[in-house]
Amino acid sequence: MEYKMKLTDEQKAILDGRDGEVMAKVMQTVVMFGDIFGAEKLVPVTHKDGHLVTSFGIALMKPLFSTMDKLINAGIKTEGKFTVDPRPLDYSNVKCNLLEKLVFHIMYKRQSEYEEQLLKVGLRDKDAFTCTCYLDEVGNIPKKGDVLSWAESSAVVYANSVLGARCNRNSGMLDLFGSIVGYVPYFGLVTDEGRKAKWKVIIKTTKKPEAQVLGSAIGMKVMEDVPYVVGLDKYIGNELNDEAKAYLKDFGAATASNGAVGLYHIDGLTPEAVEYGEKLVLPDAKEYVIDDAELERVYNGYPVMWKKKDAKPALCFIGCPHLTFAQLCKWTEDIERTLAETGRRKVTVRTVMTASPQVKAKFMQTEYYARLIATGVKLSSICPLMYTNNPLTKGKAIITNSNKLRTYSVARYYMDEKILAVLCGKESE
Ligand code: F3S
Repeated sequence: MEYKMKLTDEQKAILDGRDGEVMAKVMQTVVMFGDIFGAEKLVPVTHKDGHLVTSFGIALMKPLFSTMDKLINAGIKTEGKFTVDPRPLDYSNVKCNLLEKLVFHIMYKRQSEYEEQLLKVGLRDKDAFTCTCYLDEVGNIPKKGDVLSWAESSAVVYANSVLGARCNRNSGMLDLFGSIVGYVPYFGLVTDEGRKAKWKVIIKTTKKPEAQVLGSAIGMKVMEDVPYVVGLDKYIGNELNDEAKAYLKDFGAATASNGAVGLYHIDGLTPEAVEYGEKLVLPDAKEYVIDDAELERVYNGYPVMWKKKDAKPALCFIGCPHLTFAQLCKWTEDIERTLAETGRRKVTVRTVMTASPQVKAKFMQTEYYARLIATGVKLSSICPLMYTNNPLTKGKAIITNSNKLRTYSVARYYMDEKILAVLCGKESE
């Protein structure tokens, strides 16, 4: 095989088949991927616990299943134990009619078989399905400076920005292959230069911006570039506490999905911004000023993709990315309070909140769980997008507070306050 990058003797030996033909192919794929992006070399993955984006056994993805079989037959596993994105199905908490069940059964026919394959290649356990693998409860937490082989865009942007780890926005399978060979190509967000900001974003709003609208505005403006955001610490503080981290989780997922951001710096808050300050901003960086009017413009620009534009919402998803424990508690309190104001006992729209299996288990041990369930809300660890992404559910009037879900589906985005009002019957749509 011809390649442009410089490889060590160890890497060349793997490529030449020292560890078998399948391992050589895995290495070949990683090297080819790096060559395409002009990587000069491979660097070791220092945080061995991977995170995979491909969590669903869609029957059409035959090459995925046969690649997994080849790895298993060759006795190949990842170096560490990996987590993976959420499952696409949860019949107990996300009710489906018979026709929907039939469609899901056909679509995700190979789900259990694929999960068995994942376990054989290095999946941590049967509860390792969440996009918020970096939360304390889940425990797949890289350190500052760690090099990773992850792919899920919301997890990559969080790891890079909030934890100061280093990872490119890899595609599915590359995340697995990097975790197997233990190397990733050295380019983009893995390098010091690639972590510099091409945009300086100045926040001039009169109040704390909604995380998912701010992230959307920045993502759509800077696309795949790195933004350095000033003026936000005024609203979310200078300490990476649970509240700030939850804000940045939702903000980052919106930057990554409404644009293609893999890393952002928040002045006075995120680790590299605290360490280097505005030295991270490139001299020719462009500027983007965000005020109330700009956020309003972005919010009003979201198209309504429902077939019947004024339909009554049939379903609401909250928790994409998965909610934190504190977010679940706050939603419970907010819904209870707003229901009391409207004199109702239960939400008026079928509502599903999603969180990792670990956060869900912790929450279920508190009195909050019974309180949330009493409002009519269901709690699941599903991926709302996987549930939404099929011909039947596409026709449903779904509302969400997730800008990622809005972008990749026909769900309609509302800010938290509006969602609360709709769910509790304060507003009809
Ligand atoms: Fe997570 Fe699925 Fe949303 S992976 S970020 S819940 S689309």
